[in-house]
Amino acid sequence: MQTSFQAMTADIMTHPLFLALRDCPHHGGDNSLYIHSVDTAKCAWRLARAFHMREDRVRAVTRAALLHDFFGYDWQSERHRRYMSRYSGWKRLRHMHAFIHGPHAARRAARLFGLDERQKAAIACHMFPLAHMPRSSEAWVLTLADKLVASKEMGETVGWHAKALCRRYVAPGRAARSR
Ligand SMILES: [Fe+2]
Ligand SMILES: [Fe+2]
Repeated sequence: MQTSFQAMTADIMTHPLFLALRDCPHHGGDNSLYIHSVDTAKCAWRLARAFHMREDRVRAVTRAALLHDFFGYDWQSERHRRYMSRYSGWKRLRHMHAFIHGPHAARRAARLFGLDERQKAAIACHMFPLAHMPRSSEAWVLTLADKLVASKEMGETVGWHAKALCRRYVAPGRAARSR
């Protein structure tokens, strides 16, 4: 019997530290780490089913996808900018969010939700090609799901900014009347 997305993820989705991702902006506009993580997990769940993965691996990749950005800090905050300012040159590049957050999320998620080695490796390399190449079907599904969802979110953010600019400069009178 196929397990539903909700049944596979309920313990993570109701965890206070996962719910805290709602307060972390991610890909601009109204997007948050919570929205991005849930959408990536749903996409990975659909892909895993489409690729006829075994039921236990569908569960594994869905949970890994839900936790792939569970690194636990706001990477756009002033605090993170201050942390980064301690480094310069090559060291600064090596400590950039894009390079460090995969392994960081894998360690943090494993501490709280007990992931297996394949799940941890999949999370650690989800930023491929900025991370090492995925080496399992779970890792490829997670990387693909993340790229698909991120691309869609970036497109939505462009639209969100275009609408905001339009409200501000092109039709301010109409926006005021519609309030
Ligand atoms: Fe990420
Ligand atoms: Fe992501």
